Amino acid sequence: MKNIYNSIVFLRVDFNVPIIDGVILDDKRINDALPTILNLLKNHNKIILASHFGRPRGFDKSLSLKPIYDYLCKKLNPYQLFFSEKIDNSYYQLVSELNFGEILMLENLRFYSEEESCDENFMKFLAKPADYYCNEAFSCSHRAHASIMMGKFFDPNHKFLGYLFQKEINTIDNFLKNKTGKSIAIIGGSKISSKIHLLSSLQTKVDSIFVVGAMANTLLKYKGIEVGQSLVEDNCDKMIEDLLYNSEENNCDIILPDDFVVTGNIENPIYIKKTNLVDKNDVIVDIGENSISALSELLKKCDSVLWNGPAGVFEVKPFEEGTLKIAQLIADLTEQGAVQSIVGGGDTIAAINDDNLLNKLTHVSTAGGAFLEYIEQDGNLVGIDVINRMVFYFK
Ligand code: 3PG
Repeated sequence: MKNIYNSIVFLRVDFNVPIIDGVILDDKRINDALPTILNLLKNHNKIILASHFGRPRGFDKSLSLKPIYDYLCKKLNPYQLFFSEKIDNSYYQLVSELNFGEILMLENLRFYSEEESCDENFMKFLAKPADYYCNEAFSCSHRAHASIMMGKFFDPNHKFLGYLFQKEINTIDNFLKNKTGKSIAIIGGSKISSKIHLLSSLQTKVDSIFVVGAMANTLLKYKGIEVGQSLVEDNCDKMIEDLLYNSEENNCDIILPDDFVVTGNIENPIYIKKTNLVDKNDVIVDIGENSISALSELLKKCDSVLWNGPAGVFEVKPFEEGTLKIAQLIADLTEQGAVQSIVGGGDTIAAINDDNLLNKLTHVSTAGGAFLEYIEQDGNLVGIDVINRMVFYFK
């Protein structure tokens, strides 16, 4: 990241974190942005700190950034932080009253419809008092919103990406472009249609894709295999046909689990069944032991693994077990130095929900949608483009 001193920096972060009753349930996104904030503070800059939170329609007290401001005040003590409850005419005054080495945190940007509509005047208004623009919000940089796009009003030498943003894209780039040995992607989730662009992009870059979760059910059904009452997505035949054809062309194996945890009727609640034994009353809820062993063997032959999407109905215990076993496998291999591992996507991380495992992985992305779009679009995100290319002078 660029070192700048004694300047006013507009710092866009993504503090869209889970909060219930004012309590932050997961502070990873905040903590991961701290190195950038601290660097700017130590270099005696004024920081205008801005984020969205949730999806409000207008002002909504329950989606205020105040709890995060309170959290930051403790975390950044003895640095001084101030909170602006409104983004209005007082903005310029508040920035000018701020001392160098202090932070002015703005209230939730999405309380203003101009943020999501990417209003030009709103962008200029936010940008005007700042000398520099720093985007430290990788996880929101697939959104062409005002605070992401306002970098276009800064000179090329006056806009840059934060440490976390740079780390996110460097790690994914290393996986996609600079890997040496064999690589595998593990892709799960419920809808194949929502991951089809990801799969299409990955099949040109990795040696195999292990499909898990309800997406695997849809693929099995396409192949004429019984999946009983399991969750499947309809009208995907053409999409799957293309996917399988292109995988063959690209020499990328699409691998499906060959056994599952299934629930049957109430008298016989849980079984593990080989894929060919699933019957019309069964509901597939998790990946089976054989499949996890098969995945383990595959992983041992790989140097790198990218994982997105849980392997089962992780919200319902004990159907999170398959996902946790996969996490354990990858964590162990990473710890032994046998693989480089990247995990992305809110659901995957929520399903693992164990810092002991997550901390062992090479990189846990803070992003969900942006992580997917970055891979799907070969490293193009609107928020990156605006830093690299677009300049509109207005000052
Ligand atoms: C996220 O949590 O994925 C980002 O903060 C983007 O949020 P959004 O999907 O509401 O735009």
